[in-house]
Amino acid sequence: MSKWGDWLAAQAAAREDAGLRRTLAPRPASDRVLDLAGNDYLGLSRDPIVTAAAADAALQWGAGAGASRLVTGTLALHAQLEDALADFTGQPAALVLSSGYHANLAVVSALAGRDTLVVSDAHIHASLVDAVRLSRARLEVVPHSDVAAVRSALAAYDGRALVLAESIYSVLGDEAPLEELAAACAEHDALLVVDEAHALGVRGAGLVKAYGLAGAPHVLATATLSKALGAQGGAVLCSPAVREHLVNRARPFIFDTALAPAAAAGAFAALGVLRARPRLPDVVRRRADDLAAALGVEPAAGAVLSVPMPSPKVALAAQESALVQGVRVGCFRPPSVPDGISRLRITVNAGVSDEDWSRATEVLVAVVKEHG
Ligand SMILES: Cc1ncc(COP(=O)(O)O)c(C=O)c1O
Repeated sequence: MSKWGDWLAAQAAAREDAGLRRTLAPRPASDRVLDLAGNDYLGLSRDPIVTAAAADAALQWGAGAGASRLVTGTLALHAQLEDALADFTGQPAALVLSSGYHANLAVVSALAGRDTLVVSDAHIHASLVDAVRLSRARLEVVPHSDVAAVRSALAAYDGRALVLAESIYSVLGDEAPLEELAAACAEHDALLVVDEAHALGVRGAGLVKAYGLAGAPHVLATATLSKALGAQGGAVLCSPAVREHLVNRARPFIFDTALAPAAAAGAFAALGVLRARPRLPDVVRRRADDLAAALGVEPAAGAVLSVPMPSPKVALAAQESALVQGVRVGCFRPPSVPDGISRLRITVNAGVSDEDWSRATEVLVAVVKEHG
């Protein structure tokens, strides 16, 4: 065996022993299993208006954007989408990137450097964790949603500081104390970066807007177009000055092929559907509340319900049991869980019929009773 062969085999064996082996399961285009693991919260990825817009854009503009944004990849579609996103979220400007992951990398790596303090909530998404590493900034991780800890980290630092939070956290599904965090940032002249990946669309135009923070000088937001908007891509929602800085300095924006035309047009159409059907997010909220009550877990701030499991192996067994009964749910285990607790992650989907939703609820109540 070679050094690399030995190392890979040892890594694989350790994962297997810990019950942490991950595998890929390709799904067919039409699947009889109900998907309550994905993030298509509003069912827009298959909305006929959205899919027609995506298909038309591919026919008209091509399958890919063909180049990075600063070369020839900026299409009229991107400009139209950026205007619509800024308008929808109440922000002065928007910049679209090829994924939400890239949006987070771009913001943090372009704004923070060795001379910057990043104060990060302990539960932030891996994309923000990686973004901080890329920036080489000084990092202080504070306990989850602990505003006092954020304040004391900011008070102890004289230079520029960024604070990182998610408006709705991706694994536990809880809401950040955004107003308090924004107030702390304003007081200490720091910048709050709010990842709205799980709030945009599910809580209307996002929580930054809901709390009157859109356009506030100490707050900017990132979002993904690949969850509630049912398409693909990411966005930064910010001031024109920050946008200009990112266009010139953000390597994940500059050195990346622009968002594909179908994704840009699909996201734009999804925003149109949301404007035309402003009550659509209410379906998600109602289903999330009902399911949380039926399962006896904390109500969700958005579409993500987190159901703690006794161990990674039991979590996997529960996931498998739901699957054989026709319901796919997520299973999050260390190291993908911020608090080390394995859990089922169930995502509410407004695109599922009432009949299917009732069936899914029955299956999940029985599974959680048996395994939880
Ligand atoms: C909180 C959060 N931020 C960012 C991302 C990355 O978004 P995308 O999948 O568009 O790269 C995700 C999704 O996976 C997420 O949950």
